[in-house]
Amino acid sequence: MIGDKKIVYSAVQPTGCITLGNYIGAIGNWIKLAEEYESIYAIADLHALTVRQVPSEYRQRALSFFAQYIACGIDPKKSILYFQSHVPQHTELTWILNCFTYIGETSRMTQFKDKSAKHADNINVGLLDYPVLMAADILLYQTDYVPVGIDQKQHLELSRDLAIRFNNLYTPTFTVPEPYISKQGAKIYSLQDPTKKMSKSDSDVNATVSLIDTPEDIMRKFKRAVTDCDAYVSYDEKNKPGVSNLLTILSAVTGKNIESLVKEFEGKGYAELKSVCGEAVVEKLRPIREEYGRLIKDKAYLTETAKAGAAAARGIAQKTLSKVYRKVGLVEG
Ligand code: TRP
Repeated sequence: MIGDKKIVYSAVQPTGCITLGNYIGAIGNWIKLAEEYESIYAIADLHALTVRQVPSEYRQRALSFFAQYIACGIDPKKSILYFQSHVPQHTELTWILNCFTYIGETSRMTQFKDKSAKHADNINVGLLDYPVLMAADILLYQTDYVPVGIDQKQHLELSRDLAIRFNNLYTPTFTVPEPYISKQGAKIYSLQDPTKKMSKSDSDVNATVSLIDTPEDIMRKFKRAVTDCDAYVSYDEKNKPGVSNLLTILSAVTGKNIESLVKEFEGKGYAELKSVCGEAVVEKLRPIREEYGRLIKDKAYLTETAKAGAAAARGIAQKTLSKVYRKVGLVEG
């Protein structure tokens, strides 16, 4: 709790590009949660070092993510928004938590296995330790709720186990975080393979719409979207995943419900659905793209905002870390 408000914490790795799917699913949720809770959001730039990054691109991308989050409506005056690497308490708490985590616990994580298979030439210790760093992120802020996708549930489970383990060995120190599963926020699928989630790291550029794509790119991607061989618009996730995905997107960006959209497209073909959907997305993203264009040029503002976010985060994080250092018996400095 901060004051009388519960704490929400989440983070995103600055890899790939922020997609329309992230915006409709996760980011919209972050903005809503910021109204009700004390919200702390991080760019998890240490996590993404577990796979090789090109330094100059990586720096640029992390800053771009930061600006895009603000452009989307994460207000740095309402939420604490910062870079993980600016708050050294994350790595400090990770070390302590490492000493309470069994190798079996991290080596059996699905993501560790997947990433080890994908990067067989670079199965580094960081990859194994990834979920412990994530636990440190969450536990440092005495987090009550963590909005995450289903793919991160296992990691969150480990954070809970570590919090409970530490609390039982010493005295209550960490709030045990709960996953925050949102009721709304539609799931958006790839435009090229509508049975797969729209992923920010998809290598097929036509599969995803980035928040900062140009209107021309967006229109082209929707025109090429995979549909099916029927010639009528209806919502049927199983048999017509491509068309259903377009309807979901159109519904999310216009606020109209799916039924009324299906009626609107009665007797019309896929070409029309694609172009209406593309145009609606262009309009929805226009203000974000314009605001992003302004922010990314304003380095001074971004630097100041990141500094202020990190200072606020450090203030909270250090309180938890000092407690932990004391409890495990380190000499006070
Ligand atoms: N591992 C998360 C992901 O890939 C990102 C992340 C890092 C995170 N630290 C976190 C999410 C803390 C929630 C809370 O999506």
